[in-house]
Amino acid sequence: MADIVFEPKGDWKWWVHDRFGLFIHWGLYALPARHEWVKNRERISDEDYRKYFEHFDPDLYDPKVWAQAAKDAGMKYFVITTKHHEGFCLWDSQYTDYKATSTPYGKDLIAPMVEAFRAEGLHAGFYHSLIDWHHPEFPVDRVHPMRDNPEERAKNAQRDVGKYAAYLHNQVRELLTHYGKIDLMFYDFSYPGEDGKGRDDWNSLELMRMTRELQPQILIDDRLDLLDVPGGWDYRTPEQVMLREQPTVDGVPVLWETCQTFSGSWGYHRDESSWKSIDQLVRMLIDTVSKGGNLLLNVGPTARGEFDERAMDRLAGMGKWMKAHGRAIYGCGSAPEGFQAPQDCRLTYNAETNRMYVHVYAWPFRTLHLDGFGGKVEYAQLLNDASELPMVGAERLAHWGAPEDTLVLNLPVQKPDVAVPVVELFLK
Ligand code: GLC
Repeated sequence: MADIVFEPKGDWKWWVHDRFGLFIHWGLYALPARHEWVKNRERISDEDYRKYFEHFDPDLYDPKVWAQAAKDAGMKYFVITTKHHEGFCLWDSQYTDYKATSTPYGKDLIAPMVEAFRAEGLHAGFYHSLIDWHHPEFPVDRVHPMRDNPEERAKNAQRDVGKYAAYLHNQVRELLTHYGKIDLMFYDFSYPGEDGKGRDDWNSLELMRMTRELQPQILIDDRLDLLDVPGGWDYRTPEQVMLREQPTVDGVPVLWETCQTFSGSWGYHRDESSWKSIDQLVRMLIDTVSKGGNLLLNVGPTARGEFDERAMDRLAGMGKWMKAHGRAIYGCGSAPEGFQAPQDCRLTYNAETNRMYVHVYAWPFRTLHLDGFGGKVEYAQLLNDASELPMVGAERLAHWGAPEDTLVLNLPVQKPDVAVPVVELFLK
């Protein structure tokens, strides 16, 4: 936390403290269940995509169950796709019929969701697609499902992106006025240049201004194509990558959040077999926080309105780890200057309590060498059960070549039965 010099416009302190959120990608693409970009990938026309709208009926949808699962996983905020690139709206917008209330399901999905998550104490965020593959005024471009269709291309002459932008702004106004305090806005995404779209198409400056005016405390992501504009974004959003270090702008560390999937796609994908293990996901969270970032981990609910078992299993696994190790995540960031992570470890640090957490990825035999920690630690324990880890004077190992400022901890032979064991160090 101490490492943030860049001053974002929105209220970021809670967010940096909380570190861990749930992303939810939900829309008509849950029905084909083969990636949220299916309309684009398979170049599906509006007419052929219509069947998903006509069969959208998530009869098992109960956002209280979702909110409980997120809370139990240790997540502190959630971000829901109010509209994804396909253009389908999850709320009862007055500007379109292409919305949940006009499907067989017939009800607004957003209000009960926001309410359920808030009731569990989570902050609320909206992901809103700048792209719209359904709106008639949205000109076909290089990422559009109809990109290779000359007739659809020809219709661009009659399309007016300005009218689409007005629709986009009107809908955002609805979203930011009908659901109380919204803490995050995740606009997605810009691809300026030839046959693309960017700030002039979305009227990004005005969208940004309106967003901040309607919700002054809101945090806004970095995909409006305003990276070079002061106040044009609050945090960077590296997607499905693990960074080596905290991102900087002009040498200054900035707020960041990595968004990640369980299996590769964001929408529900029935047949994907590339699911990450609980161990990998826990490491992903640790690794991110050790570099001063947040993790937004995604679930793609099914078309019946449920988190499927694979997702529930991962969430429960993370929750189990978080219950014992949340202290090493919440309120934590990267280690202060001068502290190096030992081999096979990551460090997180809580500046308020002055405690350092050593996340041990590969359990060593008996001995953990902490170079540079000598004389700086008052007490050491395993976090999962608060059992003491005796500190061995470096002098005992000195004749084997251990540097003098090394702190040596005596670990149990058996690795504690947790995904990643954590050593809690009370610094002097
Ligand atoms: C992307 C994708 C998308 C996903 C997302 C999450 O750019 O287009 O399907 O919603 O970002 O970050």
